[in-house]
Order: sequence, then C-alpha cells, then structure tokens
Amino acid sequence: MPDDLLIEQEKKLSGRIYSGKEMEYLAEVMSSGRLSSLNGGEFVPRLEESFTRMMGVQHSVAIANCMCALHAAVLCAGAGPGSEVICDAEFVFGSMSVLYNNAIPVFVDIDPVTHNMDPDKIEAAITERTKAIIVTHAWGLPAEMDRIVEIGRRHKLLVIEDCAEALLAEYKGRFTGAWGDIGCFSFQASKQLSTGDGGMATAETQELYERVAAQAGAPTFHSVAYDLDYNYRMNEMTAAVALAQLDVMPQFIEKLRTNAGYYDQAVAGCEWIELQRGPEGAHHSFYHWAATFRGDSRGLSLEDFKKAVADAGFSSVSVGYTNMASYRHPVIRENRAHAFFCPENKGHSGRYDEGTCPVAEQAVPRLILGYVTEPDATAREEADKLHALIRTLEGN
Ligand SMILES: Cc1ncc(COP(=O)(O)O)c(C=O)c1O
Repeated sequence: MPDDLLIEQEKKLSGRIYSGKEMEYLAEVMSSGRLSSLNGGEFVPRLEESFTRMMGVQHSVAIANCMCALHAAVLCAGAGPGSEVICDAEFVFGSMSVLYNNAIPVFVDIDPVTHNMDPDKIEAAITERTKAIIVTHAWGLPAEMDRIVEIGRRHKLLVIEDCAEALLAEYKGRFTGAWGDIGCFSFQASKQLSTGDGGMATAETQELYERVAAQAGAPTFHSVAYDLDYNYRMNEMTAAVALAQLDVMPQFIEKLRTNAGYYDQAVAGCEWIELQRGPEGAHHSFYHWAATFRGDSRGLSLEDFKKAVADAGFSSVSVGYTNMASYRHPVIRENRAHAFFCPENKGHSGRYDEGTCPVAEQAVPRLILGYVTEPDATAREEADKLHALIRTLEGN
C-alpha cells in the first residue's frame, strides 16, 4: 500500500488502514450489475477463499454478521429444545444464539486475569443434555483452546469459537477459529475488519461447512425448501470491502498492538490495575486493550475510580463494560426468551442467580477497556491521560 495513502488514513478519525482497493472493488461490483453471489458475483467466493487461506481453516462461509454465524453454529450442534450449551460468563452473544435455537445456556466462570472461560470449570457443567461449548476469545485474547478442545472431544461436544473480537489472534501457533469445529467472526463497524456489518463462519469438516452454508444461502428463487434454513447471505458490496480489508489486516493488527502498548506503559507499575494477559502461547489481537481494576483492597473504591475516569473525559477508555455477568442480562435472568417456556427444557441445569459465576460477577464491572482502533496520536494522548489519572489517584 502506498505510504501517502497510509498517512492519509492515519490522519482520519477512525484510524483505520485501507488497502486502497475498496473503491476499485466496489466499482467492479456496481459496474458488473452482479450485486449478489446468487447471480454470479465473484467477491463472496473470492473472500471465502482468501479467508480460508489466511486463517488456516478448512472452509469459510461469508455470512451477514457474527450473530448469524453463531445461530447457524448452534444449529449445526443439533442444539434445540431439550439441549444445553456451555457459554462463558462475560459475553452474552453466544448465549443469545443458544436461545435463538430454543436451547438452554449453561454458564461457566471465567479466569480473573484472562477474562476467558476457565477450562478447569467446564466439566462440572456438562450434563447428558449438553451439545456444544461456545468459547468467546475476550477482547482479542485467545482462550486456552488446546484444553477446551480436548474436553469437547472427550465428551463429543461441538466446540464453537466466538472470534468476533479476535481476528488473527494466535494461540500456540494457530489462529483463533482454527481450533474448534466452527469459528464465528464479525465484520461489524467497531471490529478489526470492518465492513459496517458482516461476518464469516469457518468450518473444519465438509459436513459442517454444508450445514452452515445452507444457512447463508437459502431460500433462493429456484430452490426447493427441504429444511427450515435461514437467509443469512452476505452481499457482494460487503464482500468486496472485506476482501480489500483482508489484505491489510496483519498490518492493522500490528498497529492495534502498538496502540495497546501505549496503554501497557501507562499502567506499568500500578499495583491496582491488572493487565488482561496470558495464557502462555497466546498472541492478543486487541479488539480492545483490557485490564481489571483491583483498587478495592487498596483503599480506592470502584465508584471513585469510575467517577474519576468519567470526569477526565476520555474518548477511548471506559470502565465496567455491561457491569454484569452474561446470565444477569434481563433476557436470561428474567427468563424472557421462548426457550425457557419449552416443555423439553423443564428441569434444565442453567443457573442465573447471583453467585453463579462469582469471578465474572466481580471482574466485569471492574473491566477497564481502551479502544485502540484510533490514530497513533490519539492512542498516545489517551494513554498519557490514563497515566496522569493514576498518578493523581495515587497522590503523586
Ligand atoms: C464477542 C462478540 N460476539 C458476537 C458479536 C456480534 O457480532 P455481529 O454484530 O457481527 O453480529 C459481537 C459484537 O459486538 C461480539 O463482540
């Protein structure tokens, strides 16, 4: 990519890097008149092929967004009424896709440092109803996939990776999405690869690929409907932008890592802020820089810290995320989804009371997030501001 274009993009508020081919590809789509792969558009298959190659997976299916990918993945696990799916206690997306399928989410607590599902706690949550495990790679940091896949294989469960935040994150030499049976990616506006909205599902076997692809392609004008498939197809304009973006993704993720480094420096030496790092062999792709507030035991209250952050007027730093563990979202806690009324789900083992996953309940409200998709200068300024705030709070 030409340097002047890179500099031009860096100056823009979004801080995104473009390959320069976005407009060219879009013009190609429009002038061809083929706005969908259904009538011969080639960008969807080209994107799928490039994604498969880059991620080191077997198959890819371009899809409307990550929630569609998760919905299709849970369907592939055969999880419907009467089934349970294991989900992590920080993010609600996976559990919502379980409820879309009228199955029941069962929550496993997270590790307090990595914010990822704690492999030591998975087996206790498996019952004869369990069909799958959905693992979210929190904020771009890979979960311990070797251990989780081993548990999944032993119990014959489908392992679904929610990679919405973890494009090109690596664990022990393999990208996220290439560990489990199905990987689900998001190209939504804030994500590393952004097309406004969009996504990808990756699959490790031909059978899973065909089942996911059926959800991204039906019904069509001439097709005969045999199953209740969904119409989650990606259009050609989205695929054109995604294909152009894919070219610069490794470079863009390096930039995110650099920006995250400024935040690391800002909190270095601060004993009450703990970085989201590890496990060994994990290479973060920084959808967000994340850390956990640990001031409670040092005389600094969470409320005071939140107020100080709000008063400082950060543009990219926030505290608390949703302020609740995933099962405390009203849709789950108050049993608002249809799944909770299906007779087949009677006596399910999902527990949504306070205290169910104590680590997540403690950690989520204490999450400090830095959004690093911004120009270098902004990231530095925000990090400096965080450093200054810490010094003030420490009385220096
Ligand atoms: C972890 C996670 N999963 C799923 C999603 C949903 O992605 P999409 O908007 O592409 O459906 C998001 C988006 O915020 C996410 O962060």
